[in-house]
Amino acid sequence: MTDNTDLAIVILAAGQGTRMRSKLPKVLHPIGGRTLLGHVLHTAQQLPASIVRVVVRHERDRIVQALEDIPGVDVVDQDEIPGTGRAVQLAVEALPAEFQGDVLVLSGDVPLLETDTLGALLEAHRAAAADATLLSATLDDPTGYGRVIRDADGSVSRIVEQKDASEDEAAVAEINAGVYVFRAASLRESLARVGTANAQGEMYLTDVVRLLRETGGQVAAQAASDARIALGVNDRVQLSEAAAILNARIVRRWQREGVTIQDPATTWIDDTVTLAQDVTILPNTHILGATTIAEGATIGPDTSLVDCEVGEGATVRRADATLAVIGAGASVGPFAYLRAGAELAAGAKVGTYVEVKNSQIGEGSKVPHLSYVGDTTIGRGVNLGAGAITANYDDIAKHRTEIGDEVHTGSHNVFVAPVRIEAGAKTGAGAVIRKDVPAGALALSVAPQRNIEGWVDKNRAGTAAAAAAERARSAEKAADGAQEQDDH
Ligand code: UD1
Ligand code: CA
Repeated sequence: MTDNTDLAIVILAAGQGTRMRSKLPKVLHPIGGRTLLGHVLHTAQQLPASIVRVVVRHERDRIVQALEDIPGVDVVDQDEIPGTGRAVQLAVEALPAEFQGDVLVLSGDVPLLETDTLGALLEAHRAAAADATLLSATLDDPTGYGRVIRDADGSVSRIVEQKDASEDEAAVAEINAGVYVFRAASLRESLARVGTANAQGEMYLTDVVRLLRETGGQVAAQAASDARIALGVNDRVQLSEAAAILNARIVRRWQREGVTIQDPATTWIDDTVTLAQDVTILPNTHILGATTIAEGATIGPDTSLVDCEVGEGATVRRADATLAVIGAGASVGPFAYLRAGAELAAGAKVGTYVEVKNSQIGEGSKVPHLSYVGDTTIGRGVNLGAGAITANYDDIAKHRTEIGDEVHTGSHNVFVAPVRIEAGAKTGAGAVIRKDVPAGALALSVAPQRNIEGWVDKNRAGTAAAAAAERARSAEKAADGAQEQDDH
């Protein structure tokens, strides 16, 4: 009953996940910024366990690879004997022989459990000095889950799987969440007696409950306060249900932290995101990965941010950004695309139909309309005219464009990199800048305009354009005549 009883956690992730119909192993499907298994591990790591073991078999190398960066996790390989009972048996055999603590078994496909729930389960288990304590939930539709069958006195007698259930048993609404705490010795002893005589020919972990009861052991069930946390993901319908439940939880958490989220139903926030107070999120917005957003920023509508850093008071509207840094008070969009390495300093602006990649845009500088800025360094107080294109790629390599402080460029410029436009310089409309522009110079590259009078009359006689030109000239002549009369 001591709280410092040694704890080992076993996470089951060896199953095939057939019902997902996916090349990706089921437990590696992501929701809310982590894989299903990642959520289970994230929760497990907040518990004081001395040992964390993940049981693998199907696609084991991919799952092991996904575990690589997570410290303190051991892998156990399941053999050809199928079933959750076999998975736990092998994990328990891999424990040190002297381990006498509790074993918490979690399923890699039950991603919504929170640490508090598991802590309470452990506490109940220890308080009752039970051999096993399982988490149960009462569902409107229990189809597919194992049912918790109780004796007349209400004590848990056994668990029966959907495929093995009689009609009466299938009508039971209390389900096994696939989450259990066992006393190690009781678990070892009863697993040794689990067979495969069932509809699926597998070693069911759930048989342990019946076997323990038959030998006088004590099994308790703790009902989840919110049945939704017990959701198990076996197919893609349940995957989207789990994602929605998780998202609703994350949205509520941030709302309580002081974030305005106008439309929770169309706002998706990964579990890995950090938001500050008084951030406002407008509808149809996805904030994903390691994104952080500082106080007072407004994001959306219709915006997607992945692994971005957004500064205080910035505004990002109808934009798509990945691995971008958006400075304090900066403004992005509508209809902007920020790719990896786009860095906007404080007060910078990236406007409508602008794409930015691997570029620094200095304090207060603006790229307001219809531009591509790639591999470019822009100083402070710069204004790029509409339609600026940095031609950064010569078909062989990428080159940089450097634009100094207070440079203002004309509309529709092409900057052929590598090229420098030094501080305070200006460029004319339509210029193609192939050579460096010295500080304070005006660069023009377009030939002076030449008007060839009467070209349309000569070459397009009889067209609507020729007729319109003729009308315009007559009107001009008449106006000139009237003017002459007035002058006399
Ligand atoms: C299991 C339970 C069921 C419970 C449900 C909760 C059993 C027999 N049934 O059913 O009572 O209501 O979870 O979600 O335990 N796994 C292995 N090795 C295997 C088979 C499965 O590691 O040989 C892993 C899977 O990868 C998965 C977990 O165990 O993470 C559960 O397996 P799954 O086949 O999904 O069991 P369910 O039919 O959902
Ligand atoms: Ca399952």
